[in-house]
Amino acid sequence: MTEAAATLRPVQFPADVATIRCLDQECFAREDWYHEELLEAFVRAAASEDRRSLWARVAVDDSGAACGFVFADPSHSRITKVCAAPRCRRRGVGQALVAAAVAALRARKALSVSLFVRVSNGPARALYAKCGFAVDGTEVDYYGKGLDGHRMLLDCF
Ligand SMILES: CC(C)(COP(=O)(O)OP(=O)(O)OC[C@H]1O[C@@H](n2cnc3c(N)ncnc32)[C@H](O)[C@@H]1OP(=O)(O)O)[C@@H](O)C(=O)NCCC(=O)NCCS
Repeated sequence: MTEAAATLRPVQFPADVATIRCLDQECFAREDWYHEELLEAFVRAAASEDRRSLWARVAVDDSGAACGFVFADPSHSRITKVCAAPRCRRRGVGQALVAAAVAALRARKALSVSLFVRVSNGPARALYAKCGFAVDGTEVDYYGKGLDGHRMLLDCF
């Protein structure tokens, strides 16, 4: 990959079930992996491009290989998951994915965009802060006992 951020494309069903599964397992600890049935349902819903349904994009590098993804839930104006493969981090992939999700939610009339992030996840917190999100509160044990989560918010005004 060059220094330029990756190209983003819509997800395709069923082909991207495997794509997202690989990236999910590469980027997250096991306890944060999508359950298989949910993963398939999410990819199917996002691929439908129904404006009220889940929204997602896959990032691809110069060789056409998938290197990240983002999911957002328009019904709650929320970014639900984002990741960049370890081999392409700190090149703007995460930022491009978050910016695209924010733009998609704004286009669906979101007044603000929210997300949850582990308090312990410094890289993700830094990414969201760079994208304009601010901590709006802390949910104790949000990710399990002793694993607190920050709710972060971006105003769309
Ligand atoms: C968090 C994550 C998506 C960032 O992806 P990325 O493509 O490396 O992020 P970007 O290159 O777009 O970084 C944008 C900004 O975020 C911040 N940032 C990203 N990673 C960082 C790190 N490891 N340390 C400090 N700041 C970081 C920086 O401000 C960076 O800007 P800069 O490079 O100009 O300093 C990636 O590390 C990842 O997939 N982590 C595992 C999955 C995860 O935790 N996802 C989020 C929770 S759902």
